[in-house]
Amino acid sequence: MEGISKVPSHVSIIMDGNGRWAARRGRERVYGHSEGVESVRACVEAACEAGVKYLSLFAFSEENWGRPQEEVGTLMELMMEAIRNEIEKLRGQGIRFRVLGNLSRLSPKLVEAIRGAELRTMPPEGKEPVLTLVVFLSYSGKWDILEAAKSLARKYASDPEAVESLSIQDFDNYLVTAGIPDPDLVIRTSGEQRLSNYLLWQCAYSELLFTDTLWPDFRKEDFFRALAEYAGRDRRYGKVK
Ligand code: IPE
Ligand code: IPE
Ligand code: MG
Repeated sequence: MEGISKVPSHVSIIMDGNGRWAARRGRERVYGHSEGVESVRACVEAACEAGVKYLSLFAFSEENWGRPQEEVGTLMELMMEAIRNEIEKLRGQGIRFRVLGNLSRLSPKLVEAIRGAELRTMPPEGKEPVLTLVVFLSYSGKWDILEAAKSLARKYASDPEAVESLSIQDFDNYLVTAGIPDPDLVIRTSGEQRLSNYLLWQCAYSELLFTDTLWPDFRKEDFFRALAEYAGRDRRYGKVK
């Protein structure tokens, strides 16, 4: 990690390629998903070592509900298992755990486990977490923006003039990511070069990095390599340097 001067505050990963990873080994897609959990562990460790403050992971999209029921069920079970097995460890390391998305579509049992885990890893008053780990579950960018717009419409229904003074920062506060800085770096594994309805608003100025590595093969050294590439990028935000 030495020599990496510009460490991104928020790294976000679209974890893709589990199915293809399993297929190459003649195995069921779900084998790839469970192997992918090991890559999550590795990236959490790497993010802590590098001093990244937010690591967010796209785990399940709104569109993924359209997959075969068996696969959806396994993915939800893996989430439940990960919460059961990892939360105390995360807590011990000072990592705050959060899940964002359309949780109304999840089973009440899973929602309860998620809420419990979020509370367990909440840092004590006045203490900053070492890392905030955000998992996007049943999430889509257009859903997030639409829900924010609906909340604002309800709030301002009786005061349409106040709408004119709304700022971009005000809008930020209505998204599920309120209070979380926009991703500096978005990594997508498996060679696909699209956002697949991920953080559309929040990625407005993120650096994008696409790698052919399949998610279950993406480990610490791949994470550090991505940070090194980020450090070499020139972020201009439309200005001239
Ligand atoms: C990513 O791997 C995990 C989820 C989207 C839930 P995929 O399951 O999309 O794997 P591929 O893209 O089919 O290889
Ligand atoms: C995006 O991967 C969603 C997640 C990684 C959770 P998909 O595999 O679902 O995306 P598409 O179908 O290739 O766009
Ligand atoms: Mg995929």
